[in-house]
Amino acid sequence: MGSRTYNIITFGCQMNEHDSETISGMLQQRGYTEVVRKEDADITVINTCSIRENADKRFFGTLGQLKKIKAVNPEQITCVCGCMMQQEHVVKEVRQSYPWVDVIFGTHNIHEFPDMLDELVSAREKDENRITRREGGMTASEYAIAKHDIRSSKKTRVEKIYEDKKEIVEGLPAKRKFRHKSFVNIMYGCNNFCTYCIVPYTRGREKSRHPEDILAEVRNLVNDGVREIMLLGQNVNSYSGISTLNGEKWDFTDLIYALDELEGLDRIRFMTSHPKDLSDRLIGAFAECKSLCKYIHLPVQAGSTHVLRRMNRKYTREDYLLLVRKLRKAVPEITISTDIIVGFPGETEEDFRETLSLAEEVRYDSAFTFLYSPRKGTPAAEYDNQIPENVKHERFGRLVEVMNRCSCEKNAAYVGRVVEVLVEGEGKRPGSLNGRTDGFKLVDFEGPSELTGEMVKVEITDSNTFSLKGRLI
Ligand code: 5AD
Ligand code: SF4
Repeated sequence: MGSRTYNIITFGCQMNEHDSETISGMLQQRGYTEVVRKEDADITVINTCSIRENADKRFFGTLGQLKKIKAVNPEQITCVCGCMMQQEHVVKEVRQSYPWVDVIFGTHNIHEFPDMLDELVSAREKDENRITRREGGMTASEYAIAKHDIRSSKKTRVEKIYEDKKEIVEGLPAKRKFRHKSFVNIMYGCNNFCTYCIVPYTRGREKSRHPEDILAEVRNLVNDGVREIMLLGQNVNSYSGISTLNGEKWDFTDLIYALDELEGLDRIRFMTSHPKDLSDRLIGAFAECKSLCKYIHLPVQAGSTHVLRRMNRKYTREDYLLLVRKLRKAVPEITISTDIIVGFPGETEEDFRETLSLAEEVRYDSAFTFLYSPRKGTPAAEYDNQIPENVKHERFGRLVEVMNRCSCEKNAAYVGRVVEVLVEGEGKRPGSLNGRTDGFKLVDFEGPSELTGEMVKVEITDSNTFSLKGRLI
């Protein structure tokens, strides 16, 4: 193809990060190498996120920067993909206002990206032949202008977006960020339609991979040195995979028990689970499975049953609190994190106080807190009792204060304890390393970089809101 370097800019969640690893893997397989700066890349890919408005804004900002790069290097291939491309109004805007984008694909046809690149290259060659035929009467600068015009024209764009996944494509390569840990997708899409959320529209309906395909992938990863896997899905608890061997249905807990048997796999994590589908059997698995980390991310979204109903979450405040009690009864040391949305339409001061009191009652280890962001096409965006921005911000500040205090206290309780840490790599300070405990606590300590990927014991000497500090034993 002539060009040989690429750069991927990824917005959004782990699902998107993992998709970018696949895109990377496919490009590497074709002989491309990754470069750090988008200015140096022959191919730039922006993998977009739709979850909140600021993700949209950052995408259009990045596209603006790429336009400048493209003015200097019109040969650069600009590709956009990900959740935003599954929204018709976004694609329309890209076509209208950013005509120099070369390739557009969605979340359901990542595997087609290499073919789309080939298609683009041959379309460009055809264009070039057209200019070359006219070249006789052109000066060099006229030729450059003609080429630039043609590069910016609509004709050379390749675009493929499907409304939903036809089938799960297996066997795609992925370039992992870490040697010792890896994402593993177990399912795609979401059927829940929480009223604030765009994901069911951008990721389609739930589809689970066959258990044998997942187990084979994990076995390969373990053989390649991976010790920790993060199972990914919008709602992993509703995993329902059909065995290719005997047609049996596997649920998420079946999968966990099978993965727990794998020799050499030290840690299993998963993300994200929906409280409505958190079964007693899965809670039991936390106690029984040696490799399943004693950590759960369990998004609550709001503490008021009234708001939860209008969010279409299908559980009450009491249901959620009961789950937390069950989890702590089964595994007293389990760490719990959550997602909370502040300022959902119609949220009263009373409702918000219920969120605060739930947070105080659960005492989360950590939390992701979000200002409600209306998403075009979702029911809640049409609700007429939207909360003014200043009220949202005021509540957000109060919630963050409670959450941070809790995280701080939880972390302080680790001081003096010895924990097992899987070393992730070098820390920010020279000579420092960091890694995670089984409970997903970030630990910073001094040590040689050769320990990356190893399990070590660390004595915790200090703590703050978001991490622990310790001494290698
Ligand atoms: N506004 C704010 N936060 C949102 N989330 C999802 N949709 C929205 C929205 N429209 C949050 C939820 C979810 C997390 C990934 O993002 O808390 O769990
Ligand atoms: Fe969005 Fe709800 Fe599905 Fe999570 S479960 S992806 S919040 S619709």
